[in-house]
Amino acid sequence: MRRLALTLAATVAVIGLSACGKSGESSSGETATAPAPAAAPEPTDAEKQALLAALPAPYNSGDLTNGKKVFAICKSCHTLVPGGANMTGPNLHGMFGRKPGTAEGYKYSDVVKAATFTWDAEHLDQWLTSPKTFMPGTKMTFMGVKDAKDRTDLIAYLKVETGYAPQ
Ligand code: HEC
Repeated sequence: MRRLALTLAATVAVIGLSACGKSGESSSGETATAPAPAAAPEPTDAEKQALLAALPAPYNSGDLTNGKKVFAICKSCHTLVPGGANMTGPNLHGMFGRKPGTAEGYKYSDVVKAATFTWDAEHLDQWLTSPKTFMPGTKMTFMGVKDAKDRTDLIAYLKVETGYAPQ
């Protein structure tokens, strides 16, 4: 009986977690009662370090804490977790090394679909300075991140949050 009750509790916790995962938020409110796997996997510290080290300077020494803060202005339109929802903008998981305009199930503007480069730190830096200047005709209505250090930190954060392998 006791075992059944525990299983039920875990099932309820899993359902709760998957509902949370949809919004792209981490489930930091949950406590240790549920050993169930979280719906949104997180990169380990070792993975974060390896991903960061793979970036060229100065991005490889970006401040992840500040990067996360800067990402707050992107959050209303983008998710970062593997399989995260496309919102006003596409889910960004796995974008490094990928051609622009290729997130599954998202309808891009023609200019982004037609781009032939692959996303890396340098291209992101130009895009995030001013999307409309870098790719006139984009539907990303965002004025840009003007501070160079904020962009560096944001790109470092994006790399570790979108670069780890989905479980
Ligand atoms: C108001 C909503 C909105 C905000 C805020 C926003 N974006 Fe976007 N983003 C979009 C849209 C819409 C697109 C698709 C652009 C297109 O197809 O022209 C996009 C596209 C992108 C792409 C290209 C993705 C791909 O698959 O090629 C990246 C990278 C990106 N955004 C990063 C960011 C970052 C980082 C921030 C915060 C600094 C941000 N965006 C803020 C709406 C937004």
